[in-house]
Amino acid sequence: MAHIVGAITTSHVPAIGKAIFKNLQNEPYWKPFFDGYLNARTWLKDARPDTVVVLYNDHGLNFFLDKMPTFAIGAAPRYTNADEGWGIPTIPAFTGDQDLSWHLIERLTEAEFDLTTCQEMLVDHAFTLPMALLWPDQNWPVKVVPVCINTVQFPVPSAKRCWKLGEQIGQAIRGWDSDSRVLILGTGGLSHQLEGERAGHINKPFDLAFMDSLTTNPQWATQWNSAELVEKAGTQGIELLMWLASRAALGEGAREVHRNYHIPISNTAAGLMVMEATA
Ligand code: DHB
Ligand code: FE
Repeated sequence: MAHIVGAITTSHVPAIGKAIFKNLQNEPYWKPFFDGYLNARTWLKDARPDTVVVLYNDHGLNFFLDKMPTFAIGAAPRYTNADEGWGIPTIPAFTGDQDLSWHLIERLTEAEFDLTTCQEMLVDHAFTLPMALLWPDQNWPVKVVPVCINTVQFPVPSAKRCWKLGEQIGQAIRGWDSDSRVLILGTGGLSHQLEGERAGHINKPFDLAFMDSLTTNPQWATQWNSAELVEKAGTQGIELLMWLASRAALGEGAREVHRNYHIPISNTAAGLMVMEATA
């Protein structure tokens, strides 16, 4: 059966792409952020994933406000990105793991998750930048399965629902008749708000408590509805839902292998966690 090697959760702001493009990793502004990924890359060398299931939110590249699925999954042979207007160059295409895509679609549908299945799909900065942070040479040694959670247009799915989605993804992978080693990669967050009177809102105590909760009391964040989570973490801080779903995929117990937390990167509190299942 397939094995989940662990979960990595990370921020995904477009400015990271520009910093990579301009080689600014060692500038004082960027160093505390980029250095956080060194340990994650070392961990990946031992973890040796074959496939990455990437949980992220599309910000308007593949889905726009006129058609916005709550949950969507890719089942394409390959995925490319495109210009989103941030000035980030396009990067090499990703190879899809279509066997795992269809396995997940079947199992999740049986588990009463009604997914939008995408046999063509562009992947945006929330997918490409975390991949580029983990594999900086962009010579991808893994196949991918993109899973989108709508955190862009309200109403967004509840934390409880996202936890259940992650749980089912984890169960489906562990029940997949394959030798594959699978990494869960959840992108977004941590606290940030890009617009309105509260633009620039960051909530460090909440972020740190949330990161702690993922190993000590992982369903902690499910006590709040979406409006309450927005109040705490910001309108885009709700992207923490991808962290929650990723943690749920690990199963009951998980330990923290590594974390980094740094304010600010763009308008966000930037976070990174590497977790492994304990059970
Ligand atoms: C920013 C943050 C995001 O999560 C995002 O998707 C786009 C931009 C930002 O802080 O600039
Ligand atoms: Fe985002």
